Amino acid sequence: MKVFITKQIPETGIQLIRDAGHEVTIHDESRPLPQEELIAQCLQHDALISAGFNKIDAHFLETCKHLKVVSLFSVGYDSVDIDAATRLKIPVGNTPDVLSRATADIAFLLMLAVSRKAFFNYKKVLDGKWQEFEPIAHLGQELYGKTLGVFGLGNIGYEMAIKCKAAFGMKIIYHNRKPNVKAEQKLEATYVSFKELLAQSDVLTLHANLSDATKGIFDKEAFAQMKSNAIFVNTGRGGLHNETDLKEALDNGTIWGAGLDVTNPEPMDKDNPLLTMPNVCILPHIGSATQEARNGMAVMAAKNAIAGLKGEPLPTIVNP
Ligand code: DGY
Repeated sequence: MKVFITKQIPETGIQLIRDAGHEVTIHDESRPLPQEELIAQCLQHDALISAGFNKIDAHFLETCKHLKVVSLFSVGYDSVDIDAATRLKIPVGNTPDVLSRATADIAFLLMLAVSRKAFFNYKKVLDGKWQEFEPIAHLGQELYGKTLGVFGLGNIGYEMAIKCKAAFGMKIIYHNRKPNVKAEQKLEATYVSFKELLAQSDVLTLHANLSDATKGIFDKEAFAQMKSNAIFVNTGRGGLHNETDLKEALDNGTIWGAGLDVTNPEPMDKDNPLLTMPNVCILPHIGSATQEARNGMAVMAAKNAIAGLKGEPLPTIVNP
C-alpha cells in the first residue's frame, strides 16, 4: 500500500514502512503544503503521516475518508478534527512519551534563561555592548525553593517537575483535567484550582493540549492574577496564550518574564516586539528536536501507520 509523508522524517521510520512492504512518497520540500495539494496527494495514498501542522479538518477528512490511518509525527493533535476522524472511523495516531524529556529540557532551559535574562545578555555580547562589570545591572532571580505551577501535568509536565524539584527543590503544584496520582506520590505535587495555580506559581509552565477548553486561557484576566515575579513558560502550543495580553503583562510588570518555544502564528514575525524585550526568551518550536526524540517519533509514527494499514489497533491512538 502507499504512504504519504508531508516532510522528511528520520530514516529509521521510513525504513520500517518500506520493510513492511509499503511504498513511501515524501513531500521533501521546505515550503508548506497547501491543503488542496495535500488532498490531491492523499487521494492517491492509503495512509498519511503528517509531520507538521497541516490542518486535518473535517473537509480534508471527508474528502479523504478512504485513508486507513492518519499518523501524526507529534504528540499534539490539535491540528486534527478528532470528532470528524472518529465519525469517519479514521484512526489517528500520535507520538507520546518519546519526546517528553527533550521537551521538558527546553521548558527548563527557558525557565532558567528567563530567570537570568540570558538571551538579552547574549545579544549584548553579540552587539559589542558588553561593558565593565556592573554590580547592579543584569540582575535575575534565583529559583531555589520557589513554586513551580504546571498547567497540564502529563508526561512532559512530569519530566519538567522532576527536573525543577531535583535542581532547585521547587514545590510542585498543578492543574489538570484529572489528578496525576504518580506526581502526587513521587513529587509531592499538589492539585490546585486554576485560580490558585495563577496566584501561587513563581514559574508557570504550560504542557496542556490545545483545545476549545484551553484556547487563549492565559489572557489578560489570567495574567492579572499572577505574581509580579512570575516566569511564564510555554512549550505546549502558542494558542494557549493571548500574545497581545502577554506582551502587555510583560510591559507593565504584571509578570516578570516569559520563555516561549511556541507562538501563534509560527513562525513568529522577526519584527515582533517580544523579541527585543529583556525579560523574554524565544525559541523556534524545538522542544522535541533531539536525535533521540525525533528517531523515537519516526518509529512510533511508522508503527502507527503500519498498524492502520493492516486494520489493526494503533500502538498509540488518539481516538480509540
Ligand atoms: C509535538 O509533538 O506536539 C511537538 O509540538 C512537535 O510538533
